[in-house]
This record gives sequence, structure tokens and C-alpha cells, in this order.
Amino acid sequence: MKQTKNDKGIQIRRRIKAFIGRWIGLRHSWWRYVKNANCDYYESQSRFLYVMISNYHVIEKCLAMPNFEPGHGKERVEVVVGDLFKYRELGFDQHHPQYIAAMQAVQEYNQVHKQLGYALPSGLQAGIDKLLEGANIPEHHQPHVTRDQFFVHLNDGFEEFARSRHSVRAYSDKEISDETIRAIVDLARTTPTACNRQPNKTYVACDKDMIKRIAALQGGGRGFAENANKLLIITSVVEAFGNNEYQEVYKAGGMYVMNLLYALHAYQIGACPLMWAGEKERDRQLRQILDIPDNEEIIMIVSAGYPTENFKYVTSVRNPLEESLAIVK
Ligand SMILES: Cc1cc2nc3c(=O)[nH]c(=O)nc-3n(C[C@H](O)[C@H](O)[C@H](O)COP(=O)(O)O)c2cc1C
Repeated sequence: MKQTKNDKGIQIRRRIKAFIGRWIGLRHSWWRYVKNANCDYYESQSRFLYVMISNYHVIEKCLAMPNFEPGHGKERVEVVVGDLFKYRELGFDQHHPQYIAAMQAVQEYNQVHKQLGYALPSGLQAGIDKLLEGANIPEHHQPHVTRDQFFVHLNDGFEEFARSRHSVRAYSDKEISDETIRAIVDLARTTPTACNRQPNKTYVACDKDMIKRIAALQGGGRGFAENANKLLIITSVVEAFGNNEYQEVYKAGGMYVMNLLYALHAYQIGACPLMWAGEKERDRQLRQILDIPDNEEIIMIVSAGYPTENFKYVTSVRNPLEESLAIVK
């Protein structure tokens, strides 16, 4: 049916209204972001912990990496040791599970290098020794499991199932078949979406060379993502949304990725979600590799593969429940 002049006028008015609404909304959330993110992290314990967790998590990852290399990550250990001294100096809570976990990561790193007879730089070693002296931190090692142990809870009900999922970064060469991928994505598609619009899409990179190129573009999966049997690239179609729904693509995609991770776990496939920051040039290159159209937002990447016979996964201690929960009556 042909559009009348009146129809076109209504559409233009709607678009202008949507544009202004979106701009105001965006400015509002952007300002909240600017005020609160990248903050001066010495100001409060909670801010300090966010930064310290992301730093010590790198040490945990180094310790659990399938191809662990002595000395790898020592620069980050230096940062964390400095952070831990500062944390104490500022009088923050030394019983907090994240403080203990950070100390344990440094302690484990130290032990592993001692056992290997690998000498860390003397300044760093002196710092570690001083930090750990008299600290009495219980020993902890990144969990080491067999493949069977890792998947033992798949049929034990949701509580056990969900608690047994962890990011897996050690992949075997075993091929994930197209049928299995289809079954997994079909299961993941049970994710609820706003008004059932189902904007999520999954691109599956299978070719070894393509996987290596995408892993290099992503960057944060160095040392394991390039060895994945598949990389799953999740996008969300922007044109599914309308006025004041600018952020819905990220919510839709985020919910879908979680369901996808559970679906992969149910099929005994190890997986790790990988951040996609979406800088312009990388975004352009990834779109080019996979032929992703401009009307889709790239949400995240998931590396996937059947795990090796034995592997370590990263502890990733959760914060106390009270920090994530507010029951308001
Ligand atoms: C949005 C997002 C981005 C992530 N990016 C990376 C990444 O670039 N590299 C990596 O090794 N892990 C990455 N992870 C995995 C997290 O480190 C991991 O999920 C977290 O420590 C919790 O551990 P778990 O998955 O074993 O429960 C990411 C996770 C999410 C949700």
C-alpha cells in the first residue's frame, strides 16, 4: 500500500520524538557512567575491591592456564602485591573473601614458582615475602579436575547443575558437530526476550584460521581462545527495537549468552564468555570476517570446545551474598 503524505509526516514526527527521547536517555545513563566508572579507587573499599579483583583474577587465570609458563603474569602480581599493601594501609577489611582470595592467588603463584625452582625478580620476591609474612592465609589452589568430575552434576537438578558450571579454557581437538551446535543454540533460544521479539543471533566460527584471527581481535582470551574448537559470536538485531529501547539489545544478548553457557554445559562442552568491547576498527574487522550486517550489535564472544581429559578451572570467588542482595520491605 502506498504511503500518503500524512503517513510520512506522522513517521517523521515519531522519529524526531524518538531521537530526542533517546538522546536525553543516553545522556542520563552516560553521565552516570562517567561519574561512577574509572573512579579513584582508593576512596572506598568496594571501589578498591572491584579493581583488585580484576587484577588478581589475571593471576588466577595464569595459574589455571593449560599451557602455564613460569614467570608469566609477574607484572600483574607486582600490581596486586602493591594493591594488597595499600588495602591494608587504608584499613579495609582483611576478612573480606576477596582480600583473602587475592592473597591466596599471590601465595599460590609464589608456591608454584618455588616448586619449579624459578626465580622471580628479586624486588617482587621481597615484596611477596613481606606481604605473606605472618599473614596466615589458608592455602588454596585452582581446582584441578577430570572431565568426568567436572560434568558429574549434569543430572542432579538445577542447583547442582548451575553451581558446577565454570568457565573452561582447556580445549581438546574433538570436533563439535553441526548437529550438536544446532541442538545447543535451539536450547539457548528458550531465553525470554522483550515482547518475544527474539533478536539474538549466533555466528559459529569453525575454521581454525578464522578462529585464530577472531581470537587475536578479541585479545582477552590469549592463550586459550585460539585453541577453541568453535567461537560463537552473539549478536542482537537492532531493528527489533524501537523508541527508548536503546539498551535492550545488550539485555537481550546478555540473557541469551547465559542460557547458551548453560546449554553448552548440558552438552558437556567447556566454554568461556569473552568480552567484546566493540571499538570501531575491531568491530569493522569482525563484521567483515563473519559478514555481520550493520543492523546487528555484536554482544559477546564465547569460546567453546570439549575439555581436555584433565584441566584446571579458575576459582573466581563470589562476594558475600549481602553485597548482591537487598530485600526491601
Ligand atoms: C562479559 C564477560 C566478559 C568476559 N571476558 C573474558 C575475557 O576476555 N577473557 C577471559 O579469560 N574470561 C572472560 N570472562 C570470563 C570471566 O572471567 C568469568 O566468567 C568469571 O571470572 C566468573 O567465572 P566462572 O565463569 O567460572 O563462573 C568474561 C565473562 C563475562 C561475563
